[in-house]
Amino acid sequence: MEYEAAVNKAKELRQLLNQYSYEYYVLDQPSVPDSEYDRLLRELQEIENTYSDLVTPDSPTQRVGGQVLSGFTKVVHDIPMLSLANAFNEADLRDFDRKVRETVGENYEYVCELKIDGLAISLHYEEGVFVQGSTRGDGTIGEDITANLRTVRSIPLRLHEPITIEARGECYMPKKSFEALNRIKEENGEVPFANPRNAAAGSLRQLDPKIAASRNLDTFLYAIGDITGLGVETHSDGLDLLERLGLKVNKARRKCYNIEEVLQYIAEWTEKRPSLPYEIDGIVIKVNNYQQQALLGNTVKSPRWAIAYKFPAEEVITRLTNIEVKVGRTGVITPTAILEPVRVAGTTVKRATLHNEDLIREKDIRIGDYVVIKKAGDIIPEVVRAITDRRTGEERKFSMPSQCPECGSELVRLEGEVALRCINPNCPAQIREGLIHFVSRNAMNIEGLGEKVISQLFNHELIHDVADLYRLTKAQLLEMERMGEKSASKLLDAIEASKNNSLEKLLFGLGIRHVGAKAAKILARQFLTMDRLSKATREELMAIPDIGGKMADSIAAYFENEEAEALIRKLRDLGVNMAYNGPMPQDPGETDSPFAGKTVVLTGKLTQLTRNEAKEKLEALGASVTGSVSKKTDLVIAGEDAGSKLEKAEKLGIEVWDEASFMHHLQA
Ligand code: IVH
Repeated sequence: MEYEAAVNKAKELRQLLNQYSYEYYVLDQPSVPDSEYDRLLRELQEIENTYSDLVTPDSPTQRVGGQVLSGFTKVVHDIPMLSLANAFNEADLRDFDRKVRETVGENYEYVCELKIDGLAISLHYEEGVFVQGSTRGDGTIGEDITANLRTVRSIPLRLHEPITIEARGECYMPKKSFEALNRIKEENGEVPFANPRNAAAGSLRQLDPKIAASRNLDTFLYAIGDITGLGVETHSDGLDLLERLGLKVNKARRKCYNIEEVLQYIAEWTEKRPSLPYEIDGIVIKVNNYQQQALLGNTVKSPRWAIAYKFPAEEVITRLTNIEVKVGRTGVITPTAILEPVRVAGTTVKRATLHNEDLIREKDIRIGDYVVIKKAGDIIPEVVRAITDRRTGEERKFSMPSQCPECGSELVRLEGEVALRCINPNCPAQIREGLIHFVSRNAMNIEGLGEKVISQLFNHELIHDVADLYRLTKAQLLEMERMGEKSASKLLDAIEASKNNSLEKLLFGLGIRHVGAKAAKILARQFLTMDRLSKATREELMAIPDIGGKMADSIAAYFENEEAEALIRKLRDLGVNMAYNGPMPQDPGETDSPFAGKTVVLTGKLTQLTRNEAKEKLEALGASVTGSVSKKTDLVIAGEDAGSKLEKAEKLGIEVWDEASFMHHLQA
């Protein structure tokens, strides 16, 4: 075939194949037999084999899975990918509805959707072409899994319009594919996946895209990253737009005009759930109007304009053989049920929290009882109730100790708390738990230092505080049970490597009250060094988006404490890094630019820079660029067709610059 003719034929075939693929995988309405699709695909493949420059990124030949990757690169989500707060019952939902009404008034509507049990993904299209797909990761930084997502048939490689858009949604494995995959795994003597969600996640984490390609993954898109300039005012408009563009959007969505209708929707889908071809674990309820969403805003973790109703968890029966009490990192004493091992929601459960004494008494749970177990939020095992009918009279009532089981000090119940606490700051259990927390994955992430090794090191008095970890020698490690030459060296390497961790890991590891992993990251990005953070005033802390009063107080109190100060000094002397070295470094201190230390929001289309370039420049000048306008925003830069963010900025009286003055200041 002549080149000219090949160009046209390839284009025609691509369009046709993409059309057939759309009909088959998105609409579920194939218009041609599979054999016809395969024939055309072969024809296209032949042309591309002859003229390799005719291979385009949206060619259906690009789906089969190309090169094996050596690892995944990181992707920064310009607008964080938040997760959702949960509701477990009607009361939680009514509470959510009340709060929504308090902020937006009575004139509002919800969109209810199925909560698909898969993995959150983000799909970037530039001028209609699929250019990048990523995982949610920690919400701010995910992994580039474009090669794997390309193999997912319901993800169009080209949209129906040449639009630039980020679509967000869920990638999942249909029940049938999951069962088939596990059958094969079992036949091959491999460990089956616990549930379709793990199977989907495992498939997308493969470095060889051919594996993902063989896994029959599917998608539903449920959100748009940045709506600026797209001409949509509501979430339901947004979903309709995604659908129009050729993306797969779940049909079960419905507008509800009050909480009663929401409850009705939940009741209907609770009933229909077993007949769905994919797993859902709840219902998502979202405020429809984008402006109202902006008004409600977000907390650190989740939007206030949406909530996930979680279906009640699977329940099983087992015997409770004992109740042990455990002293936590903060001194809280929790009773733990020891159970005859039982499988619930994919894993074997041997222990379950009983929360506190009041709860045990309320539920009248006794040692020896048969009990109902479930996993709260499908993760943490919990005792639901005792089955009193099955009692034999041998069961024993449980009462909490009045003294700390580890250090013997008198336990106290602080005002307003149900929990008993050991308030001895030198309680060995608290210190040990603090050490375990310090090395855990989200903290310093020291591999090979699990609960057992830490307990041994601690019991042998080789470590008293976290700084001692950095003084351990090989000879000391070799004294521990089941510790060989090789694991000791590996462990020392892991401890040494942890010295280079970015500041947020250390901050989280220190276990400052109320400072979770997410807040630690925000603080590290903002202050960049431990030194600066330790000198921050309560007001400075409060000025940071997402840091509230309780956290600010706790941070300030921590750094005023002399022991904390001494510990940090020791860690520093031992060579532990005290600076932020993660992505997006910002350095407000070293510049006198008008952007230094400011929280800036970009909205609308910029003509001279891309959104990313603008963001990078701003950050290089010391600004922190965030996705949504709030009281803590200092400056909004509004390009063409700026929408709701601009309106909100004006409403809140926040300074707004157009592109011209932005460019002027960038160059100044
Ligand atoms: S909306 C800011 N809608 O549930 C709101 N999430 O914790 C972002 N999910 O990470 C989520 N189905 O992976 C939304 N129809 C749906 C969903 C959904 C499943 C997942 C998503 C998210 C998690 C919530």
